[in-house]
Amino acid sequence: MVFKMNQFKCFLIASVFVLHSADTNAQVKGNIYNEPHRPQVHFTPKEKWMNDPNGMLYHKGIYHLFYQYYPDSTVWGPMHWGHATSTDMIHWKHQPIALYPDSLGYIFSGSAVVDVHNTSGFGKNGKAPLVAIFTQHDPKGEAQGKSDYQNQSLAYSIDDGKTWIKYANNPVIKNPGIKDFRDPKVMWFEKGKKWIMTLAVSNRIMFYSSKNLKDWIKESEFGENVGAHGGVWECPDLFTLEYGGKTVWILIVNLNPGGPNKGSATQYFLGDFDGKSFLPQGTETKWLDYGPDEYAGVTWSNTGKRRLFLGWMSNWLYANVVPTETWRSAMTIPRELNIIKANNELLIASAPVKEIASIRSKPIVISNVSLSKKIEISKSIKNLSFPCIINFSIDGSKDFSITLSNELGEELEIGFDKIQNKYFIDRTRSGKTNFQADFAARHFAPRFTSNDKMDISMVIDVSSVELFADGGLTVMTEIFFPNKPYSKISVQSADNALMKNFEYIRLNNIWK
Ligand code: FRU
Repeated sequence: MVFKMNQFKCFLIASVFVLHSADTNAQVKGNIYNEPHRPQVHFTPKEKWMNDPNGMLYHKGIYHLFYQYYPDSTVWGPMHWGHATSTDMIHWKHQPIALYPDSLGYIFSGSAVVDVHNTSGFGKNGKAPLVAIFTQHDPKGEAQGKSDYQNQSLAYSIDDGKTWIKYANNPVIKNPGIKDFRDPKVMWFEKGKKWIMTLAVSNRIMFYSSKNLKDWIKESEFGENVGAHGGVWECPDLFTLEYGGKTVWILIVNLNPGGPNKGSATQYFLGDFDGKSFLPQGTETKWLDYGPDEYAGVTWSNTGKRRLFLGWMSNWLYANVVPTETWRSAMTIPRELNIIKANNELLIASAPVKEIASIRSKPIVISNVSLSKKIEISKSIKNLSFPCIINFSIDGSKDFSITLSNELGEELEIGFDKIQNKYFIDRTRSGKTNFQADFAARHFAPRFTSNDKMDISMVIDVSSVELFADGGLTVMTEIFFPNKPYSKISVQSADNALMKNFEYIRLNNIWK
């Protein structure tokens, strides 16, 4: 984070006051959606740099996605909020940039809410305003060696999210002198009829409350001695899920670095929240995604009982240097979160949202194949292509691997290592890997169940795989960059397993 900001502070003076025309994106030439490595079913900006999802909000049948965006370059720089809308979280429409940097600084990550009761007074003529709450990062203050350069600000929309007006009395929370003080996630706490802000502050969380979104009181702190602390805490989220008729509070905390497979990652805590303090159930670190490439993940607000999650599909270790030319980074597939019990413990399970069904084609199913030798399963699939979903199951708790490869001999291997009792994804020989030292690696994730059957599901795009195993308790997201698209799939098992089922489901491009 520090590296990132220092590296780009030279852009400050030139860019902070520059206004970009709303349709900058329209000026892009050519068919940008078919460039090498361009995801076909994951959200990407039309061009230039993107990082965290921000301000995700459901309102009047529309899912809004804002995101950290730098419209002048394919590397991180003065942050804006890009904007896209969707009716199903799968097909997206690019919208004009929602928020530009100003004299208070760049527009860093944050959230947005529907102010149903117009507590802020921003609403007009009985219409509820949408309110965005975000960090303003002042690069001048940072360059001068100050520590109070991150403050919390507001903007509101009275035209259902089309245009945004910055609040005249920004910032609404002033920095008390702590360098990392950012990424406010706000929710309505019905019991206390007040707003709760969850803020990432260096190595912990601070909770604030407000009756009107403008005046905030600090309620408590959490986490200094709990959870993973290999890096700075960023992008938190606080919400509830139901389990067995009871309400469970979930606190998501993103962390960079210090993830289970190096670099950035998303951890979470289960517990209770009384409007003031968060009380965790247990202290063991839990990861929402074990792969290296899901970060800054948070959930949509205003979606009723459904809890819908989206992450940025990259890692700060190499996000600025991945080998894509006109744009950088994609979001994950939107995921629905639920609680399930495994080994007497409550855990979060993730699954791709059901709306993905609208881009699925008819499954090709191959059943009951002995894996006593390596099987080139793609021979049974006419016109194999990515993106697709692969569902795979074998009898017994057995070693297996699924390899995607191309004619250059580049390959990506996904499997289960029985001796270690862990899932793995190996991208060591996946194609372009030498842009950063940590990229070429084999990554592992634990197995949570001990069923006598193994079931996995994968969403595979042109340059990413998301593995959902153990009913979604183990999730791994990885990106990769083959020099030619993968064209073959093979499966094998050192344990001579019986493959019960291999389902290949082609996915349609979301932009067509
Ligand atoms: C997380 C993060 C946030 C910050 C934003 C800046 O990836 O570092 O903490 O608000 O990115 O772009």
